[in-house]
Amino acid sequence: MINETKQCQPNLINETEAQNQSELTRRDVLLMGAVTASTLFTSKAVAKAASQASIVDTSSSAEPYIAKDFAHLLSKKLEGLSQSQISQHLKLYQGYVKKANEIHRKLKDVDLVSANPTYSPLRELLVEQSYALNGAIYHEYYFANLGGKGGEATGDLRAALDDRFGNWSKFADYLKAAGKSMRGWVIVGYNTRINRIETFGLDLHNVYTPANIVPILVLDVYEHAYMVDYGIDRAKYLDAFMQNIDWEIAAKRFMAAIKNPCCLVEPVA
Ligand SMILES: [Fe+2]
Repeated sequence: MINETKQCQPNLINETEAQNQSELTRRDVLLMGAVTASTLFTSKAVAKAASQASIVDTSSSAEPYIAKDFAHLLSKKLEGLSQSQISQHLKLYQGYVKKANEIHRKLKDVDLVSANPTYSPLRELLVEQSYALNGAIYHEYYFANLGGKGGEATGDLRAALDDRFGNWSKFADYLKAAGKSMRGWVIVGYNTRINRIETFGLDLHNVYTPANIVPILVLDVYEHAYMVDYGIDRAKYLDAFMQNIDWEIAAKRFMAAIKNPCCLVEPVA
């Protein structure tokens, strides 16, 4: 994902810029073809977005991944999520960033001669690369969509959620049920294959990860996300999570996703 022109991460896009894009009607959103939508985003904007990568430092630094600062989550009172819970969770996230750097470094000099699908250093590094990197990226989405006032989404995102789930109550019930069903993550994401919102579940950072899905709202359901505050009572944690969602961030991701759907460029012969 380093130095690529096209990247599948809406949080790489300047959120103010995304917010300033003209509002689309619900009908526009549903009818907008992905390729047509992509033309709204100029190559200049894409280049600018790439230069604002969240955890990727495109300089010649030996450590390409840099942990984002979520200290604001410690200074503000989150509803039902303690400072201790968030603090320990942030340390875990920073560990994934550190390991992503370590794996990136080791892949440069890994032995290729011993490559083998049962065991080889290359295989192990490739497997854990996806684990560490997804661990970093999904946590960034998660922490970034915490710190809000909860409640309900509005605007185009709300319209898309209602279109998919029927109404807000059904969406909320679906999200919490998905949170009880998975062992790692629940992703409310923009499916760039069919241009619609859908919910996806992951049991680990790199298990059941669908391609070309742009995360809009990310929910961490690993036990480490709530054990400090709630022990094994995940249902109470899910209620707390709902009260802290930043729907403005989710809405910006959604608008960025529909205006710049990733990975939809036709293969070049
Ligand atoms: Fe986590």
